[in-house]
Amino acid sequence: MASSRKVIRKSIRKLRNSLTDEQQSAAEKSLTINFFQHVKPAKNARIGVYLENDGELRTNLLIQSLWSEGVDLYLPVIHPFSGVTLLFQKYEKNSPMKQNRYAILEPELNCSQICPLAQLNYLLLPLVAFDDSGNRLGMGGGYYDRTLARYYRENWQQPRLIGLAHECQKVSALPTEAWDVPLPTIITPQHCYQW
Ligand SMILES: Nc1ncnc2c1ncn2[C@@H]1O[C@H](COP(=O)(O)OP(=O)(O)O)[C@@H](O)[C@H]1O
Ligand SMILES: [Mg+2]
Repeated sequence: MASSRKVIRKSIRKLRNSLTDEQQSAAEKSLTINFFQHVKPAKNARIGVYLENDGELRTNLLIQSLWSEGVDLYLPVIHPFSGVTLLFQKYEKNSPMKQNRYAILEPELNCSQICPLAQLNYLLLPLVAFDDSGNRLGMGGGYYDRTLARYYRENWQQPRLIGLAHECQKVSALPTEAWDVPLPTIITPQHCYQW
């Protein structure tokens, strides 16, 4: 089981990393259009986003569009004490940024700008692979699973989880583990899947 998860991660990461700059750019545009067709965030909504890494669907255009709609955006920051969960910190055009241990940019920690998970209206998640049932396979760190464990167990109403992915990241069935948090919605440049 664990080894097949590894094999799937490797092959899908290779697929998405082989997309050309033009394909990535076209995907980002279609994703942004598709996103606003399916999600109508309120003006003062709080949305958790991510900055792409490793061939993930790019989010810059979506971020710029959400800012211009007046939405407040938050980025994941690796928890400074636990080291294995995520905090969500306000992200503005001029936020000071630093690279985390994966060389992904995150806002420099400022406790006054952290939003508790339950106060986010939406959380947009990256993923490596998804399947016909909305199961999610990540990069293997389990950060989102750990951060969302209580949310999932207690069936919180928000944030609404929305995975963002390329169509090439879809497989028919993923091997899952008890701790994996599935996604009720996944938006690709072409489709919006709901479960
Ligand atoms: N809720 C949780 N509590 C404790 N450990 C967890 C939890 N969720 C995930 N993990 C740990 O994180 C590791 C990676 O999780 P996995 O689901 O394989 O990664 P990903 O979701 O990034 O693909 C697991 O081996 C597991 O030990
Ligand atoms: Mg998982």
